[in-house]
Amino acid sequence: MATIAVIGAGSVGATTAYAIIASNIVEEIVLIDINRPRAEGEALDLGDSTAFTTPTRVFAGDYADCQNADLVIFAAGAGQRPGESRLALAEKNHAVLRDVLAQLMPYWRGGLLLIVSNPVDLLTYAAVKITGLEPSRVLGSGTILDSARFRYALSTYTGVDARNIHAYVIGEHGDSAVPLWSRVRVAGIPLDEFCHQKGIAPPDREVVTTAVRQAAYRIIERKGATYYAIGLGIRRICEAILKDQKSVLTVSGLLAGQYGFNDLSFSLPTVVGKNGRGIALELPLVAEELAALRHSAAILKAAQERLGY
Ligand code: LAC
Repeated sequence: MATIAVIGAGSVGATTAYAIIASNIVEEIVLIDINRPRAEGEALDLGDSTAFTTPTRVFAGDYADCQNADLVIFAAGAGQRPGESRLALAEKNHAVLRDVLAQLMPYWRGGLLLIVSNPVDLLTYAAVKITGLEPSRVLGSGTILDSARFRYALSTYTGVDARNIHAYVIGEHGDSAVPLWSRVRVAGIPLDEFCHQKGIAPPDREVVTTAVRQAAYRIIERKGATYYAIGLGIRRICEAILKDQKSVLTVSGLLAGQYGFNDLSFSLPTVVGKNGRGIALELPLVAEELAALRHSAAILKAAQERLGY
């Protein structure tokens, strides 16, 4: 029986639990939040929803209830305010992460840890250092959402189903995210060649890159937070893990020399399955993409050092 613990029952955590329930991939979800009535209210509402799906036990619990969790999702802490960067949340959410892990680890027998809260790359790195877990067992949602936004933008432009578009965003889940334009394939055809065949001009790369990097800001300034897309993105990661699908997803994780980087966490296309992160792939990059990735890494390295790592 698969159990997922969601720590943080705010808009992202609750939406994630909802998406997981609607996908019938677990038998039990425990919701933990410092605001217990909030966790209880979400659990009650989500419990009602299981009458429309398959039997799933959903309850507000404590860290002791995480003992046998196959997967723990960290979604607690502050979200971005309008105009605020994800990196600006580092100090605050790192303190929340430390506090949560100090309460979780005495109970949790171990499994996989999925970091969602921002800045997700820094918190993924910190979670490895704090818990001592095997790095492959600590994943961050990373740029799974940026890659989805990139594919959605290309789908809208080309008129092709996003599921038939291979397009990856790597590096920081943040302002320095790196869309890999050189690797975009539409039904296996390089983007510019596809556009030539269709008789349309290729998309403006600067416009699309900026739109992907700024997506969260645009949403937050209008509705205060993002949660639907990230909730379904987390569900996608959970599905790959619980069904051992070995899917290639741009999750964040501790690097092991990819592109010459170590002791740093950011997103690369990674094989995800029941044991967490498998091989993180080094796609061939053009010079501009490698330079952008190095810039992203430098930003994260400096932020890591400001946190004391
Ligand atoms: C976003 C949040 C999840 O990009 O960072 O919407």
